[in-house]
Amino acid sequence: MQTATTLEVLRSGVDALRAEGKRLALVPTMGALHEGHLTLVREARAHADAVAVSIFVNPKQFGPNEDLDAYPRTFAEDCRLLEAEGVALLWAPTVEAMYPGGFATNVSVAGVSDGLCGAARPGHFDGVATVVCKLFNQVRPDVALFGEKDWQQLAVIRRMARDLDLVAPYADAIVGVPTVREADGLALSSRNRYLSPEARAQAAALPQAMRDGIAALMAGSAVAPTLAAIEAHILQAGFDSIDYVALADAASLRPLDGLGDAPARLLVAARIGGTRLIDNIAVAAPS
Ligand code: PAF
Repeated sequence: MQTATTLEVLRSGVDALRAEGKRLALVPTMGALHEGHLTLVREARAHADAVAVSIFVNPKQFGPNEDLDAYPRTFAEDCRLLEAEGVALLWAPTVEAMYPGGFATNVSVAGVSDGLCGAARPGHFDGVATVVCKLFNQVRPDVALFGEKDWQQLAVIRRMARDLDLVAPYADAIVGVPTVREADGLALSSRNRYLSPEARAQAAALPQAMRDGIAALMAGSAVAPTLAAIEAHILQAGFDSIDYVALADAASLRPLDGLGDAPARLLVAARIGGTRLIDNIAVAAPS
């Protein structure tokens, strides 16, 4: 695995892979890698001849009172894991390499960025869209893979790729990979490392409440009381607060007040012991 920390080294690494005629996949990450990331890398291998991974804790997507400084950084272990997965190229820029002095551009995707995490974390998706647009231009992959756990992020990135006519990857070449879960259903996340043993045990109530809510919706329960019951279940289990529990159109993320033919998604963000957890699950229309 070649590790690039400057754009020059990255470009020569990408050019060398291209000269060998290789189709290239990119897996963007912020490091602190877990099985969810490694699943993205394995899936990437099925879409391309060579896999590039980026590790960059992007300051632009953290709010002023968020966990940028505390965000877990496990670079040596990440390198070992990526090496073992046969990754060809690791792009690990410094903040200065990514955002040189005078950097003044912001990529903002209206609509799909506005609600849910966009409302709870103002500016977050501008930071994500800006860095992912740069990563696409820097690595120029044929395909890029993202976890479905960040469902809204995936929708923002697809919209951006379509709107900006990004040459590669096209919106269609942005692959969402299903969420990897622990045995008790908790979605894998780098932020799970923040949880105390007690909070970790309580956190399993979040996917459980979601599954119960989906079962109720499928059995014909009305949306508003079902969402309220999910909130009550999560708070009763020991969560401190809830940013949102929403049923939304899976593509536009507009809130839904009932199930129709279009794919729907149940999305939740809640806090426990100072850690903000998000999750989402597909909701099928009742047959
Ligand atoms: O999902 C993440 O890890 C980040 O938001 C991403 C896509 C790497 C952009 O910084």
